[in-house]
Amino acid sequence: MSSATPAAAPDVTNPDTTPDVVLVVDFGAQYAQLIARRVREARVYSEIVPSTMPVAEMLAKNPKAIILSGGPSSVYAEGAPRLDREIFEAGVPVFGMCYGFQLMATTLGGTVDNTGAREYGRTPLHVSKSGSTLFEGTPAEQSVWMSHGDACSAAPEGFTVTASTDVVPVAAFENDEKRLYGVQHHPEVMHSTHGQQVLEHFLYRGAGIEPTWTTGNVIEEQVAAIREQVGTKRAICGLSGGVDSAVAAALVQKAIGSQLTCVYVDHGLMRKDETEQVEKDFVAATGVSLKVVDAQERFLTALAGVSDPEEKRKIIGREFIRVFEQAQAEIVAEAPGDHPVEFLVQGTLYPDVVESGGGTGTANIKSHHNVGGLPEDLEFKLIEPLRKLFKDEVRMVGQELGLPEEIVQRQPFPGPGLGIRIVGEVTKERLDLLREADAIAREELTAAGLDREIWQCPVVLLADVRSVGVQGDGRTYGHPIVLRPVSSEDAMTADWTRMPYDVLAKISTRITNEVADVNRVVLDVTSKPPGTIEWE
Ligand code: XMP
Repeated sequence: MSSATPAAAPDVTNPDTTPDVVLVVDFGAQYAQLIARRVREARVYSEIVPSTMPVAEMLAKNPKAIILSGGPSSVYAEGAPRLDREIFEAGVPVFGMCYGFQLMATTLGGTVDNTGAREYGRTPLHVSKSGSTLFEGTPAEQSVWMSHGDACSAAPEGFTVTASTDVVPVAAFENDEKRLYGVQHHPEVMHSTHGQQVLEHFLYRGAGIEPTWTTGNVIEEQVAAIREQVGTKRAICGLSGGVDSAVAAALVQKAIGSQLTCVYVDHGLMRKDETEQVEKDFVAATGVSLKVVDAQERFLTALAGVSDPEEKRKIIGREFIRVFEQAQAEIVAEAPGDHPVEFLVQGTLYPDVVESGGGTGTANIKSHHNVGGLPEDLEFKLIEPLRKLFKDEVRMVGQELGLPEEIVQRQPFPGPGLGIRIVGEVTKERLDLLREADAIAREELTAAGLDREIWQCPVVLLADVRSVGVQGDGRTYGHPIVLRPVSSEDAMTADWTRMPYDVLAKISTRITNEVADVNRVVLDVTSKPPGTIEWE
């Protein structure tokens, strides 16, 4: 792909005018986000829309193609989501997957039966037309991920059946003339061995879209949009030490330079060296003007005597807002004659937007995760340059902006910091102890090359628990440290990481040897659900 012809990048300030977009129609059950990511991995810009959006509204976005996602319903269930037939008649290429496939079949006159022939999990797919638009160059026998009860037994008129399984006679169909395609399986799921290829065939061959979208386009487009939005006014940004706020700040800094001031509230709940990383490395890489507020005493005082996790979260959130407001007032006071501070930069990501119902109509799942972010009653206009991006794309943007690897590749860390990783009251001594244990675990995970494999590894201090141990010549009565390494794609679900025993052994030995008052290290082997990632 030539970089001489940059693709039109998404206009995040006005989501309705995004050019060259592929719409992913969301029929529920979180398949849509994964599909949208896979489309972008194919370097085509994609956005998620709810299945309740009127077709006319979808078409008004001028999509280059439409993908119908899977979903939990049966097409025959009462109240199952439907689509207006007009979506298949507008001349826009459409690709139906699983539920979307069955909906396409029934809407266009094919047959879907409730045969009781269920298929779940890995299933062999027999491709009957290997030179087809979707399956070109893929093997005649391939493994796909299925999850359905109903089965398509007859394709609509004008469609060619291109694959079947042992129980489903019509597992894929294609209509090149109308540019309509469908597969019963989930090509977006890793276990479908040629899924990405099938998806790309639809995008490039079926829909004729050029793979031109890159995160580089996002930077150029955002820089221009932010400059226009801010003009000569000023903006502030709260840095948390995490990837999202760092990348958002770097992007805005590139656009408006010294008109941006970043505020970093050091609440004393950070991990070892985190504050220094922001103070030195981030500033060195971006040249940003940074105000660091040392609020450790204030937070410790407010948290004294509190063990309840919700109470802790509330206190941390409240104090954060107060400190942030104070910092903001100081920034204004320091340059009174200057232009007003009118904008607040936030590192909101696309999954947050989708999950909080922004444009999809789905339920608000994650409202409690805003601690450490925006004071709601602050009167600012928002700049959210990452609100259309997924986490891995944000990391790519960060890399292109030249941010240090340690910041860009950093694993997620909660806003309330180590405050919620101490089960029990938060004190300075306990924070110092946990910081040491956490630093050891991180050091060893990095040395073992596990940083990318592990989504995150909370290290938790059970401050209210003591147990007997023996160290040196004597009996000890110390605290346990919990290791919680998890693998995940989006933190909504997670599994505990089966990491090598020798790495666990090394972490355990080092923590019990080097951290005073800790005499046990235990491993959390619970998935999410039923556990959460953090302990609190
Ligand atoms: P749980 O514990 O709910 O965590 O499974 C899911 C993900 O969210 C992170 N997390 C937070 N992030 N502020 C944040 O910015 C918070 O208050 C917060 N609480 C949990 C957690 O680390 C995991 O990645």
